[in-house]
Amino acid sequence: MQEKIIILDFGSQTTQLIGRRVRELNQYCEIVPYNKFPHDDPSVIGVILSGSPFSVYDDKAFKLSLDGIRGKYPLLGICYGAQLMAYNNGGTVEPAGSREYGRAHLSHIDQEDPLFHDIPVGSQVWMSHGDTITSLPENFHIIASTDKVKIAAYRANDEKLWGVQFHPEVYHSECGMQLLRNFVVDICGGKQDWSAASFIETTVAQLKEQLGDDKVVLGLSGGVDSSVAAVLLNRAIGKNLTCIFVDHGLLRKNEFRDVMRDYEGLGLNVIGVDASEKFFSELAGVTEPERKRKIIGKGFIDVFDEEAHKIKDVKWLAQGTIYPDCIESLSITGTTIKSHHNVGGLPEKMNLKLCEPLRLLFKDEVRAVGRELGMPDRLIKRHPFPGPGLAVRILGDITREKVRILQDADDIFIQGLRDSGLYDQVWQAGVILLPAQSVGVMGDERTYERAVALRAVTSTDAMTADWAHLPYEFLAKVSTDIINKVRGVNRVTYDISSKPPSTIEWE
Ligand code: XMP
Repeated sequence: MQEKIIILDFGSQTTQLIGRRVRELNQYCEIVPYNKFPHDDPSVIGVILSGSPFSVYDDKAFKLSLDGIRGKYPLLGICYGAQLMAYNNGGTVEPAGSREYGRAHLSHIDQEDPLFHDIPVGSQVWMSHGDTITSLPENFHIIASTDKVKIAAYRANDEKLWGVQFHPEVYHSECGMQLLRNFVVDICGGKQDWSAASFIETTVAQLKEQLGDDKVVLGLSGGVDSSVAAVLLNRAIGKNLTCIFVDHGLLRKNEFRDVMRDYEGLGLNVIGVDASEKFFSELAGVTEPERKRKIIGKGFIDVFDEEAHKIKDVKWLAQGTIYPDCIESLSITGTTIKSHHNVGGLPEKMNLKLCEPLRLLFKDEVRAVGRELGMPDRLIKRHPFPGPGLAVRILGDITREKVRILQDADDIFIQGLRDSGLYDQVWQAGVILLPAQSVGVMGDERTYERAVALRAVTSTDAMTADWAHLPYEFLAKVSTDIINKVRGVNRVTYDISSKPPSTIEWE
């Protein structure tokens, strides 16, 4: 039985980060909405309560009684989680004089307390709170303070219940990983037995059992998640897995050919479908971004469905859905938002059972599993690429000629990043074809041609992103290469907007 830490989500933006940190300790954990504690699960060994956008004394705050949890498992409250446990037991929580945000240092630590084992006085921690605990319940005591925050951490006397006001899950908390290790390993007794290899072993066994001799179909996109899901399933059920890779004609230059080659090299049974004609004709004259997305989404489902029907007796649809897609996120009203699928609408339309072998993994874990499965870095380290492909990078209507121009320019940029060793330093990069023409001069000729924008961002999760500070020399070379080699382009710009308020894609 895989022992787990449960993380109760009270809606903080860093809840997923807590999960990732615990997994980095090779300890399995699951994130559940604060009011969905799995009381009947015998594999739970400890509980972490997350932060929240609310104040504990707010009417709308997520309230929770710890009946059936407290005393049964070790508990660690983080920020709101700490305030809630203090408040529920008679402590006082009040608005801080001024919102505390940023770095602080632990000026006092109870070195005897197991939560602070091996954490030195002076350690930097990350604070982000509008409220502060001003007095503790009677049987609680302070175990750490900063200059500004007296109750930076507390413990209930003779009980395995702790609260920390700071955020150990955030990188800026230097001692954060040590603190989480102290809780998860020393206090909860976590065996740290979660690894890519152990995941593959148990998942392959489970898939064999779950699928038996059934036939399974899976849509490949060329991206990391669907590729890893395919290789994992292939290991479990071999020829009973059929993969379908639809080319909508809006992929990168040579992408379809190269990725098909990689898939075949991995021993996958894959059908490649060139459906570009259908997509180009349906997209002709369409300029509105959401309309483009809808046409491509529906077209994809139609083509996939038609191909899948050619295979006899298919029972399952497999998808590369990963954990962040599945975690039921809390909306501010406290209702849970439905988890979403990679290929929205497909499972319903096809009337197949759904198999999602990566649904418990974070992105970095998917990559680790892929590596362990022997997949090439080319596939594993690929930048994210939008499902509608170059359609959302051609502003305005789409023609084959525009796609050709964009593919050529994009290829020079991406190849340049690879050749300069910059590819792995950016989260995602691509070129945008602008609906603008401008005057230039080439030799003695006046030109009146298209402008493109280069886009490269750094990010950890695509929720926020900064424009990548690429070297000028590199940008200069890419610009010259594009203008010299790509017929139809005479101007190159670099997008220096961050997300928010901009987005990564232009459409
Ligand atoms: P934005 O542009 O919203 O993009 O900052 C965030 C991430 O999502 C990708 N993206 C998409 N992926 N279908 C997809 O599969 C889409 O319609 C789509 N739109 C944006 C984008 O490339 C980035 O990684």
